[in-house]
Amino acid sequence: THQWRGIIEEYRDRLPVSDTTPVVTLREGGTPLVPAQVLSERTGCEVHLKVEGANPTGSFKDRGMTMAITKAKEEGAKAVICASTGNTSASAAAYAVRAGMVCAVLVPQGKIALGKMGQALVYGSKILQVDGNFDDCLNLARGLSENYPVALVNSVNPFRIEGQKTASFEIVDALGGAPDIHVLPVGNAGNITAYWKGYKEYAADEVSTSTPRMWGFQASGSAPIVRGEVVKDPSTIATAIRIGNPASWQHALAARDESGGFIDEVTDREILRAYKLLASQEGVFVEPASAASVAGLLKAAEQGKVDKGQRIVCTVTGNGLKDPDWAVAGAPQPVTVPVDAAAAAERLGLA
Ligand code: F0G
Repeated sequence: THQWRGIIEEYRDRLPVSDTTPVVTLREGGTPLVPAQVLSERTGCEVHLKVEGANPTGSFKDRGMTMAITKAKEEGAKAVICASTGNTSASAAAYAVRAGMVCAVLVPQGKIALGKMGQALVYGSKILQVDGNFDDCLNLARGLSENYPVALVNSVNPFRIEGQKTASFEIVDALGGAPDIHVLPVGNAGNITAYWKGYKEYAADEVSTSTPRMWGFQASGSAPIVRGEVVKDPSTIATAIRIGNPASWQHALAARDESGGFIDEVTDREILRAYKLLASQEGVFVEPASAASVAGLLKAAEQGKVDKGQRIVCTVTGNGLKDPDWAVAGAPQPVTVPVDAAAAAERLGLA
């Protein structure tokens, strides 16, 4: 009786559903808000991690997808399509299974993590690898959805934003108020748009008395919003946010400006440093794109932009198991020992 019911049931009165809407859910949301001890010490703040890798398909996309697929089902759609750097497609594929729909997926060839490809395959979606980048995939998916009977479930679908805004509700509900600062990785910019919408709605209804400043971070090789121009050939090891022309660009600017925040960039080196810190010092294993939020917080702290004593939430968007290459790369190969306690004890430095 105490199981979390999924974001639509938990926040039904704040979402565009009715009593007859056929809810498609894997009981997403209700993710841990974990106090980050080392990050708190380093910044002199109270830092929390919103661990979105704990969702059913391992990323925050499930919040948006339960809404998008539910509404597609309500409207009678038989098939859905998305462009993706990997997580949207994993999520769409899973929720399409639950809804009994066909799912078509367009991904940039060679640029999605193996775990995410495995998800799209095992859930049984129809995958095309496109000889282009994510932005090309999204253009294709939009065109196909306009000309064929297939519903687009990228974050340009407003129901995606509706679902994703529930993460802000959970954070305010857990903390008893909004944080001072909210930090997010930014790719196609749907999530920063959604969080800001959620925080604004709670403040407007006086559930909270304030809204946070929204801080977004792009990867340096894929930072069109920071640069103020489309990046034609985006690059970064954080493939989830390898995007040169974000669909929600203007909404991200609005979130930044209305909240008094900023959008900056972090290098791949900074991302990997934060990635390792999160796992080895906080015990939270995330994928590289997710570490961009924490890399950004550490960068801002080093620049003196973080006043002490503030309450800060960093969203870590996806599970580390999706893209373990970066955990294994450069790490020493584990030593092999015989089935022998003395030898094992010696190698472990116990003897
Ligand atoms: N973190 C992860 C793990 C992601 O997968 C994404 C986006 C983002 C951050 C950025 O979120 O696009 O809302 O600004 N992934 C999309 C996908 C593009 O296709 O899975 P955003």
